[in-house]
Amino acid sequence: MTAPPGGDLPSAVFAQVRRHQSPKLALTGKFAGRGAVESAASGSWVTLSDGRTALDFGSYAVTLLGHRHPAVTAAVRRQLAVQPASTRSLANPVSAGAAAVLAEYLGGALPKVHFGLNGADAVEVAVKLARLASGRDRVLAVRGGFHGKTIGALSLTHHPLFRAGLRGCTTDVVHLDADDAGAVGRECARGPVAALIFEPVQGENGAVPLSPEVLARWTHDAQAHGAFVIADEIQCGLRRCGERSVALAEGLPVDAVLVGKPLGGGVVPLSAMVCSQELYAPLAADPFLHSATFGGHPLSCAALPAALTAVEELAGHGRLLAERLATGLRVLHQRHPHVMSGFRGRGLLWGIDFTAPQAAGEVVVGLANADLLVSPCLSRPTTVRLLPPLTTTPDELERALDILDAALDGAGRTPTAG
Ligand SMILES: Cc1ncc(COP(=O)(O)O)c(C=O)c1O
Repeated sequence: MTAPPGGDLPSAVFAQVRRHQSPKLALTGKFAGRGAVESAASGSWVTLSDGRTALDFGSYAVTLLGHRHPAVTAAVRRQLAVQPASTRSLANPVSAGAAAVLAEYLGGALPKVHFGLNGADAVEVAVKLARLASGRDRVLAVRGGFHGKTIGALSLTHHPLFRAGLRGCTTDVVHLDADDAGAVGRECARGPVAALIFEPVQGENGAVPLSPEVLARWTHDAQAHGAFVIADEIQCGLRRCGERSVALAEGLPVDAVLVGKPLGGGVVPLSAMVCSQELYAPLAADPFLHSATFGGHPLSCAALPAALTAVEELAGHGRLLAERLATGLRVLHQRHPHVMSGFRGRGLLWGIDFTAPQAAGEVVVGLANADLLVSPCLSRPTTVRLLPPLTTTPDELERALDILDAALDGAGRTPTAG
């Protein structure tokens, strides 16, 4: 959109968002951009309509390769010039090749791949197949877990906030306490279970790594009772937390790994369920049992090999960034205990807790004023997520830590009412 004659672009955009989308969305966008809207992006930086640039450590974990990674945009451009859309009646070499690359990337033990566009697409197909392949209905998920907002995925997402106004989602789900090692064994003894689904590192819950020992016991108990085990790594996988797959790196013999967000290189939408023959069996028998018009879209799939190659090239740099970030956050916690009550995470996925909603609000204002973008946790108003790209330079990381330091310094100074 260009600015209307005689008018300014942001006002026109906010009016459209208010009119055709949501007044609240207009308000949060206005706050985040301090009245400006996004107009371009490259690497860790987003350019705003007023000419400012903001350092992007947010984007809800999509931009693991930063914005417009050159190898990914080149691959997508090549595909755009040749065949962006599939007939879906002819076999497509780009989506078939992407499936082979992804299965191989995750080690080869899970040979089957189903592509979607959003993370929830991967969650939906995994749970649907688990129910069909097992002939059972009940699914075990974890308290604090987030798996998306479509009706099926929503029943697995734990926080009731996301289900407000909706009575009875379609899947029968029990949410387990993350530290209850015996929970899966007990639930399986109570009645048949189709699947267990967990995020090895819970993202939306504020970057909470689950105990590898508990996950190992859960996986063993679920599979011993004939239930499938699904690792939702849509946020924590593909080296966001250091490993290609956190669950596989922990030695968990899971039946499926779900990936999304950065799978399209931060350029195009793409998600995937990568799974065992056994879980995929209903779809192998009838490939139209679950399909979607844009599943395996060549334009999206063209990004995958380039994205995974770039992620691997940057893995070592990512480890150094992760170490520096963890050290930096430890120092900030020591310096500002009255505002920053804690922090946790792994790799390039960190959650920072604030002592109170007011302190959180003040820090978030401070970050916005200094042009550092972070991602909020929708169900935890006193926590924000830091999600730096693997492409972040050491200088950019130091700058982000300095901005955080100043924002923490400026917060918590106003006495709370009462
Ligand atoms: C772990 C996890 N699973 C599933 C989803 C849903 O993904 P999407 O919003 O792309 O549908 C998300 C999104 O944040 C997520 O973090």
